[in-house]
Amino acid sequence: MENKKIKVGIAGARGLSTVMGFNAMENVEITALCDLDESVLNREGDNLNIAKQHRYRIFDDMLESDIDAVVIATPMQCHVPQAIAALEAGKHVMSEVTAGVTMDELWWLCESVEKYGKTYMMAENYMYMPNVQLVKELVKKGMFGECYYAEGAYLHNINCLFTYPNGKTSWRSFWQCGKRGAFYPTHSLGPVMQWFPGDHIAEISTFSPGVYNDLGLKQDSGTTTMCRLESGKLVQLRVDCTSPRPHNMTHYHLQGTQGAFQSAQGFGDRDKISFLSDTNVSWEMTWQALSDYNEYLPERYRNATAEQAGAGHGGGDFFIVSDFIEAIRTGCKPAVDVYDACEWTAVGLLSELSVVNNGRTMTVPKFRKGAKLEDKIVKL
Ligand SMILES: NC(=O)c1ccc[n+]([C@@H]2O[C@H](COP(=O)([O-])OP(=O)(O)OC[C@H]3O[C@@H](n4cnc5c(N)ncnc54)[C@H](O)[C@@H]3O)[C@@H](O)[C@H]2O)c1
Repeated sequence: MENKKIKVGIAGARGLSTVMGFNAMENVEITALCDLDESVLNREGDNLNIAKQHRYRIFDDMLESDIDAVVIATPMQCHVPQAIAALEAGKHVMSEVTAGVTMDELWWLCESVEKYGKTYMMAENYMYMPNVQLVKELVKKGMFGECYYAEGAYLHNINCLFTYPNGKTSWRSFWQCGKRGAFYPTHSLGPVMQWFPGDHIAEISTFSPGVYNDLGLKQDSGTTTMCRLESGKLVQLRVDCTSPRPHNMTHYHLQGTQGAFQSAQGFGDRDKISFLSDTNVSWEMTWQALSDYNEYLPERYRNATAEQAGAGHGGGDFFIVSDFIEAIRTGCKPAVDVYDACEWTAVGLLSELSVVNNGRTMTVPKFRKGAKLEDKIVKL
């Protein structure tokens, strides 16, 4: 695969966010497009100049074409069936979040990635935002000392998305807010878990105040999930997609023995950081701007070309597809492999069981290569 052109097919309009990234890469071409909605298919097909015979309404028909890789950006409940079909057809897969909608699906997905030997990467794009990447570099340099607590929150009122513009009920009324628990955990866990390299989520407990709206859906008016890592360290996850409030989809905190990070809370706030020093003593520490440390941004972000930066999120939208393509070309572990994808997704699925059982602690199964049958269970 080293120098061969990689042909990509995109399924679902949301996948178009990868277009600028793929277009900025050498020897990568988007040659096929799939969307059930013919008007979307033709509008976007025209925009991208996709030949008419490479526009597909049916995903399996696109798999018959000579593409090497697919981007799956269809509704969440389509991800695993489409990913497995693609892997079986010999295609590499980049899947939107979350990885799947049931625990069984997650095990089937891992088994299929192992069986067919193709690259699978979950497109957890929030991990690629420059601020959380910068914090990751500062963690690596040991500037926070030992990190032992973090928070991630996704506060995004999606009450306008439960019906499509034509008035029909949308998939979000079922697979997102038709369920209890933290159904959308990866934008919060992905960025934070990269600050705890090698650690895994061992168990979770989820609590909610109940339902305080008249949407007629099961989803809680926000959930808080405490995740205990294998090391004993803690990560708190808050997801609230129905309460009336301004968005904050990128709330992150980190605490270490030598310092702390807090992301901007909106309303003029900035990303901020504080490290212990002779002049910043522990009982009266003050903040400084995270941007004061921009020199520590990963080199590829600092040196991003105008074209790469133009892909969006300070180059993040380019680097996510570039990591996917590199994993295909070299066979290296993708940035978010199937096991990470399933672990973070499982937190959301298990949170449903926890929250309806008064915060009962749920063990997160170990998603590892070649896991045994006895490990593929939800322990009660
Ligand atoms: N990473 C992010 O920041 C982010 C943001 C928004 C949505 N998402 C994810 O993207 C995915 C899509 O969300 P959305 O908001 O674009 O949904 P949407 O309902 O607005 O769009 C889904 C598109 O997929 C098409 N589609 C549906 N079923 C299909 C099928 N079986 N085959 C082919 N096409 C099909 C629909 O016609 C539609 O154009 C979801 O998984 C969601 O979680 C991620």
